[in-house]
Amino acid sequence: MSTSTFGFHVAIIMDGNGRWAKARGRPRRFGHAAGARAVRRVVEAAPAYGITTLTLYAFSSDNWRRPRSEVDHLMRLFTRHLRSERDRLVAHGVRLSIIGRRDRISDLLRQGIEDVERHTAEGTSLHLRIALDYSARQALLEAALSLAATTKTNDIGDPRAGFEAALSRAMHADAAPDVDLLIRTGGEQRLSDFLLWESAYAELLFMNVMWPDFGNEHLASAVQAFASRERRFGRVSPPPTEAKGRLRTARAIP
Ligand code: IPE
Ligand code: IPE
Ligand code: MG
Repeated sequence: MSTSTFGFHVAIIMDGNGRWAKARGRPRRFGHAAGARAVRRVVEAAPAYGITTLTLYAFSSDNWRRPRSEVDHLMRLFTRHLRSERDRLVAHGVRLSIIGRRDRISDLLRQGIEDVERHTAEGTSLHLRIALDYSARQALLEAALSLAATTKTNDIGDPRAGFEAALSRAMHADAAPDVDLLIRTGGEQRLSDFLLWESAYAELLFMNVMWPDFGNEHLASAVQAFASRERRFGRVSPPPTEAKGRLRTARAIP
């Protein structure tokens, strides 16, 4: 990839809300509300750790399979929080983007998304991306289909290099650097269809903390664990520009 994008991209699969609530004898929605407060903590703490892009998995395309009452509750929570957090995000210089499908959510939520995206468009301290009705496979499929529909083979030059760049653009993967650190809370060790393309060289970190308990100290220990990893990108040792613990993305390295 030739795009030279500097930054530190952390992605989080925010898992464990339901179990957190169950352990307290409370309904699952109690866990989701506590999870929303954890989102606010992490967003506000992120820039201090050098994080420039933060992608949070809020609702997967497979989460529609949950009981209607839980899905409805989550959609209302997203709608309410987008509205209540808008001015705070602007004040913190956060640019918010929502990734995922927008054709299956309510008009109210879609309008809320457009409103926050518009108001936060100038933010420069952090690019916050929330994945909502998101499926990495679906995103790849859509990108391939849109390319197939719009690109003639001879438009893309060298078929392999050209196609990779064009596919990357079609996925809007050029809008954010590749993932450097992928965290999953809740103890499960799987990707659940999250950022499969962008995480090709991500460092993976599975944490036993339930998402509602996630705070500054967990983010600190995650970043510390990342800094101690040796990223080789296929070489026998890290590239010269990748000094140990330096926060650089795979794409930035020639
Ligand atoms: C993650 O927590 C939040 C969403 C998927 C919306 P879960 O709701 O999956 O919590 P657990 O995994 O059941 O504990
Ligand atoms: C992944 O969590 C999706 C989000 C955190 C939004 P799930 O709880 O839905 O994942 P699985 O079903 O355990 O793989
Ligand atoms: Mg879960």
